[in-house]
Amino acid sequence: FRNLELRFQQLEILDAFSALGPPGSQSDVTPQLMMAVGTAVIGSLQFGYNTGVINAPQNIIESFYNETWTSRFSEPISQTTLTALWSISVAIFSVGGMFGSFSVGLFVNRFGRRNSMLMTNVLAFTAAAFMGFSKLAASWEMLIIGRFIVGLYSGLSTGFVPMYVEEISPTSIRGALGTLHQLGVVTGILMAQIFGIESIMGNASLWPLLLGFTLLPAVVQCVLLPFCPESPRYLLINCNEESKALSVLIKLRGTENVNEDMQEMREESQKMMSEKKVTIPELFRSPIYRQPIFVAIMMQLSQQLSGINAVFYYSTGIFARAGVSQPVYATIGAGVVNTAFTVVSLFIVERVGRRPLQLIGLMGMAFSAVLLTVAMALLDQLRWMSYISIVAIFSFVAFFEIGPGPIPWFIVAELFSQGPRPAAVAVAGFSNWSANFLVGIGFQYVEQLCGPYVFIIFTILLLGFFIFTYFKVPETKGRTFDEIAVGFRQSASHGADKYSAPEEFNILRGHDLNL
Ligand code: GLC
Repeated sequence: FRNLELRFQQLEILDAFSALGPPGSQSDVTPQLMMAVGTAVIGSLQFGYNTGVINAPQNIIESFYNETWTSRFSEPISQTTLTALWSISVAIFSVGGMFGSFSVGLFVNRFGRRNSMLMTNVLAFTAAAFMGFSKLAASWEMLIIGRFIVGLYSGLSTGFVPMYVEEISPTSIRGALGTLHQLGVVTGILMAQIFGIESIMGNASLWPLLLGFTLLPAVVQCVLLPFCPESPRYLLINCNEESKALSVLIKLRGTENVNEDMQEMREESQKMMSEKKVTIPELFRSPIYRQPIFVAIMMQLSQQLSGINAVFYYSTGIFARAGVSQPVYATIGAGVVNTAFTVVSLFIVERVGRRPLQLIGLMGMAFSAVLLTVAMALLDQLRWMSYISIVAIFSFVAFFEIGPGPIPWFIVAELFSQGPRPAAVAVAGFSNWSANFLVGIGFQYVEQLCGPYVFIIFTILLLGFFIFTYFKVPETKGRTFDEIAVGFRQSASHGADKYSAPEEFNILRGHDLNL
């Protein structure tokens, strides 16, 4: 009976997921596929958790820095040194991310996608130990080193996870499953916000546990990954292991009828053999790759320079300045909205398509940023503007998760075929993390300069990215990797307008909005 009940629950879950794809995609979602994707996105959860974890306990950890300093040098730490140390502790995470994301290519082709994910957990364990024992060892240096190492891990994960998920997914639900990476990220952020509440772990005695918590997901992932298959595309195209690829594919798809997938991979494999290995400089030199890599980088920049992390790193301060009486709870509210709208995107991305969602998201964020600016500017005259600022930030976050949050992460893997994919994912990840670092380090200074008008800068950038997306970003929904690559190749050989979206992709037509 127990087994029957479990099987029943499993079917219900799969049923819910089958609503992700276009009609008729029921059979695409199998327990093996969900297990593999679910295990991989633990890496995304770690990235989100460590993005959000440093926000709530800032004052408490700063006191620890001060005590340690005092006991070492017999005088209290100066405010400037404390601010500098804190900024380093926050931002060193993105520096780790930059290095990590850039190194993706060193791992994935040598060790495979799954084993790369497994191996990097060493970094998560090490980081958890450094951060978790920093208080005991009275060393803020350990905390900073731990943040750097977990940044390395997160940078690698933002490459590995979307790549693995995209490679094992059936074309019809590739975008929906790709969005699960972002769902992992936002769940991690929300968990960190909740655990960071003073009565849970955000207090003077438990903050080392709050930071060291990263150990737990790492253990779970290490236990589950050996039960997940290697990417069949990697097995066939990179290792030439046809029979292994076939048996993995049969398991993932839950059917013996995988000829179409196999054929498509074989064709890609043949094409790849005639290409030479694609290095990072090659991506920029070759006319075939120049356009997609340009699109990939701009997509990453539009995600980070939208200003989203100004909210996730500094929302408590923004809410406090906007006159909100319980800023910590407003921040958690933003985390809840963030998660809810990622789920919305998950269920519509395969029906609406990437382009429309990206465009709607960018425009909605631009409007929300204007609303926030108005609310901040009028706050002194009208107290109730603090409520408008909450509405504005919530809608800013909601529109982000509709498109600019999830799509850039997975679209890179879609824009490239197997050969150039690792190099492209590395370049795109590096661009993303660098822009993340810039916003993290620079926002507070720019805010001091611009006061309530700081979000106008993001509005202008958002409108620029909207225009770019409208003219240059192709739709990738429902197309095989090869079809997408061919689209770019054709537009490169037409040559006339090198950077415009291939004609066949250039849509925002009514039928693509068949909600
Ligand atoms: C995306 C961004 C990340 C941000 C998060 C917010 O994953 O890459 O930097 O913190 O969304 O949900």
